Amino acid sequence: MRIAMIGSGYVGLVSGACFADFGHVVTCVDKDASKIEALKAGVMPIYEPGLEDLVANNVAEQRLSFTTDLAEGLDGADAVFIAVGTPSRRGDGHADLSYVYAAAREIAELSAGPLVVVTKSTVPVGTGDEVERILREARPDGQYAVVSNPEFLREGAAISDFKRPDRIVVGAEDPRAREVMSELYRPLSLNTPPLMFTGRRTSELIKYAANAFLAVKITFINEIADLCEAVGADVQEVARGIGSDNRIGPKFLHAGPGYGGSCFPKDTTALAKTAQDCGVPLRIVETVAAVNDTRKRGMARKVVAACGGSVRGKTIAVLGLTFKPNTDDMRDAPSLALITALQDQGAKIRAYDPEGMEAARKMLTDVSYAPNSYDCVEGADALVLVTEWDAFRALDLGRVKRLLKEPVVVDLRNVYRPDDMKKRGFTYVGVGRS
Ligand SMILES: NC(=O)c1ccc[n+]([C@@H]2O[C@H](COP(=O)([O-])OP(=O)(O)OC[C@H]3O[C@@H](n4cnc5c(N)ncnc54)[C@H](O)[C@@H]3O)[C@@H](O)[C@H]2O)c1
Repeated sequence: MRIAMIGSGYVGLVSGACFADFGHVVTCVDKDASKIEALKAGVMPIYEPGLEDLVANNVAEQRLSFTTDLAEGLDGADAVFIAVGTPSRRGDGHADLSYVYAAAREIAELSAGPLVVVTKSTVPVGTGDEVERILREARPDGQYAVVSNPEFLREGAAISDFKRPDRIVVGAEDPRAREVMSELYRPLSLNTPPLMFTGRRTSELIKYAANAFLAVKITFINEIADLCEAVGADVQEVARGIGSDNRIGPKFLHAGPGYGGSCFPKDTTALAKTAQDCGVPLRIVETVAAVNDTRKRGMARKVVAACGGSVRGKTIAVLGLTFKPNTDDMRDAPSLALITALQDQGAKIRAYDPEGMEAARKMLTDVSYAPNSYDCVEGADALVLVTEWDAFRALDLGRVKRLLKEPVVVDLRNVYRPDDMKKRGFTYVGVGRS
């Protein structure tokens, strides 16, 4: 099948490359000419393990190409995917759908179909109806079937998530569209592709409900971690104790500095807004979003306390900036709120991240960047571990201790063991462990 992918960001590029790898012919389109130029030259605009090789192989097989011209992509296409951003709208927290609607208008200008128009972006319930209305208004004679196919991939494990999904949700009423979607995902069939057909609105809601539920789980264990600190319990053991109950499950029960990234923060807020507009407020989701927001900045208090009550004039070494390991995505990363809060209290920040520093430079001011972990901690008054990159999981602790001015470690990901760190002479603070 031939596919056009509008938007070549994390989702569009990974999905496009994986569909090409399944054997389809995919044209990835983006408005950002520099991104397309880079892709044509084999340079990835994002860091995602395995992506560069996947793209190179499929470009070489002539199944994957890049362009800024949507007309090229739509030529002979069976389906067009919309995988553009849906950020939080300034001011009210609703999802900003202007990119999605602009893409729909461009499709109608260029093609009368027959075409399956698939929304892969995370969009509020009813967006598919509006996309359909835009298409019909612009081209009353057009033949379009509008489908919702939300994406569940995780950055850092995006390719394996796309190729081995827990489920593929397709919201489509039209039988021909269902056939096209089945055909697109058929290469997964050998392992019985977990395709799940629903109504379009249901599919749109599934994506938000999934993200909100995961955000609830993370926030729940974070609050339990705070209680653990107050009562002298260990959140790691509590998480294991509850997570081994398979009604609960062990995942997303790692206490930390609060969730960040390009999805959970904006999606929880957008879901809460949709629900309020429908007169059915989701109080749990509203609370989770608020609790998480305060938590990220609140982590600075831990650092200040570990530094003896003040960070004024002190150098804090921050290891890890991205919202999680194996990505260069800095959107809504907890490090941003934490660093700003520490700077507000007079701290000097030196940071190192294996992939996130280029993006961080555009989002933070007055931070100095080190070329590696050890240069980062040299002469610092404290080390704060914010993102659990593999590179930070097995630091040479003897060397770290010699390099630090004060042997203070604040481990916001519970990578190290408190008893071991104390034995080594560190003042060590984790999350939810006394
Ligand atoms: N990043 C994730 O992990 C993830 C996971 C699941 C779902 N999602 C959802 O997928 C969507 C895309 O997210 P992302 O992280 O890939 O965004 P992104 O910002 O990385 O990429 C979006 C791309 O779309 C391009 N674009 C915008 N309008 C365009 C147009 N009219 N024509 C061509 N290109 C256009 C932009 O230039 C940009 O490169 C969002 O709705 C997001 O919520 C993201």
